[in-house]
Amino acid sequence: MYVMESTPGPRTVINGKEVDYFSGCGYYDLQGHPEIIKAACEAVKKFGISSATSPLVYGNNPILQRIQTKACTFFGTESTLYFVSGFIGNSILLDGLRDQYDIIFVDEESHYSVLHAALIAQKPVVKFRYMDVEDFRKKVKENIRPSQRPLLICDGIFPISGDISPIPDYQQVLKEYDEAIICVDDAHATGVIGKKGRGTFEYLGIEGERLYSAGTLSKAIGGHGGIIAGSKELIETLNKNSNIHHACSQTPIPDAAAAAKALEMLYKNPGLRRQLWDNVSYAKKKLRSLGFNINDTPVPIICLRPDAGIDLEFIQSELFKRGLAVIYLPGGRYTSVPTGGALRISIFYSHTRKQIDRLVDTIKRFI
Ligand SMILES: Cc1ncc(COP(=O)(O)O)c(C=O)c1O
Repeated sequence: MYVMESTPGPRTVINGKEVDYFSGCGYYDLQGHPEIIKAACEAVKKFGISSATSPLVYGNNPILQRIQTKACTFFGTESTLYFVSGFIGNSILLDGLRDQYDIIFVDEESHYSVLHAALIAQKPVVKFRYMDVEDFRKKVKENIRPSQRPLLICDGIFPISGDISPIPDYQQVLKEYDEAIICVDDAHATGVIGKKGRGTFEYLGIEGERLYSAGTLSKAIGGHGGIIAGSKELIETLNKNSNIHHACSQTPIPDAAAAAKALEMLYKNPGLRRQLWDNVSYAKKKLRSLGFNINDTPVPIICLRPDAGIDLEFIQSELFKRGLAVIYLPGGRYTSVPTGGALRISIFYSHTRKQIDRLVDTIKRFI
């Protein structure tokens, strides 16, 4: 078992050993940033650990109000809904929008939180093959009855493969349904892709009505809690129709204060994102030169597949012995792990070129 004994960053202490850390989702080193820790400490001293009540009546407080303001600025929306974890965001969306759709189409490799949301939505659910537009088209044709309103839900960025869902193609398939809804789980896209870090829709240049995303502040942003940003009308509808959010205690005060500060910092420093994308591009290019088939997106999740009989589990263990931490997952262990398993490499804005070179050179020795 691995135990992390420091804040996550480009150098992280695991099992008593300082390693070059290429895992997780703390791409901007915000989890241990002094300003964020200061914001969390100040908030906890003033307001305690939590308000010990749900948002329904007295659960609001100045920290939660601050996060709404910061999130509206970051996402450029009128309103936001902030809740205890990204996992419940998809359920809040499907529950809150339940009067607006009749049948759900879901990518079969979507995150557990998406599959779970679809399962409890009490509507017919049709799965289509991973990122397969033709299968989606076929499933829509076969399953939708006249006058039924479809809702498509999938991950914006898949957590292990790092692939981005082909939303514009799905939109094409759905164009004959005026009231079709598209929802994405943007947990891995929040703060990472799109010119302003607003996620998958921004990155793909998609705008319009009935496009909704649920994100998290617990990964790249360096705080904690889930977020849905949108119009006042959307947030009011979700608040009115979905009890999931009301039935949970609020995000703990220090975590919420950390998230508010982190959103502010990322908003003010777009250079962090550019530096991250530069590092991602550099690392992907180097890994491609070893023969790996790697997409050309700014997503900082790099997935190595077991092409040509490469033993990824062995590589992970050899890398760790040499002070390089990446993740190995066997097929079926998590959503979006390719058949045969994956080596998942995370790139941070703060990794040095020397660290990336050492990672790639060490992988090269074992393939
Ligand atoms: C795609 C995806 N959606 C949702 C979540 C849940 O987000 P949170 O950790 O904020 O609950 C995760 C977390 O791993 C995820 O990978």
